[in-house]
Amino acid sequence: MITFTLNGALVKTDDTPDTPLLWAVRDTFKLKGSKYGCGAGLCGACTMHVDGEAVRTCVLPISAVAGKQVTTIEGLGTPDDPHPLQQAWVVHSVPQCGYCQSGQIMSAAALLAEKPEASEAEVEQAMAGNICRCGCYPRIKQAILAVAGSGDAPTVDDLAMEVTS
Ligand code: FES
Ligand code: FES
Repeated sequence: MITFTLNGALVKTDDTPDTPLLWAVRDTFKLKGSKYGCGAGLCGACTMHVDGEAVRTCVLPISAVAGKQVTTIEGLGTPDDPHPLQQAWVVHSVPQCGYCQSGQIMSAAALLAEKPEASEAEVEQAMAGNICRCGCYPRIKQAILAVAGSGDAPTVDDLAMEVTS
């Protein structure tokens, strides 16, 4: 039995220790926001936070998170209290098909937790490993920079004013 904290709640599972965290979260705990893309740690679609760090969970055995804090896109914010990045994603109409987006947001959230005013270069570096087949990269970067308040990107508040005025 493996015990860990999932989005703030203590959970237990008897999944085998080598079960990838992604499958435990999706199949055992029925949280489907984190996606399977490559299964080889190469695309970022499965990104979650483990003790605050962005991690590729398709290649992380669940035994590695025993006693740790796991956060998924479902735990990052709520409809009533969204994470600033989730607000920015809406304001900037970031997604196309949406498949990669939870991984993109989780990677960006880990970056901004560490560097709240990340520069454009730091955003590009941190996000380089998250693949988007739809090519939403410019809007992804713009939304992150809006939250970071760096570069020339308008802030979320600026855009909200444009929408409501
Ligand atoms: S599905 Fe995990 S990195 Fe691609
Ligand atoms: S929005 Fe379609 S893969 Fe990124």
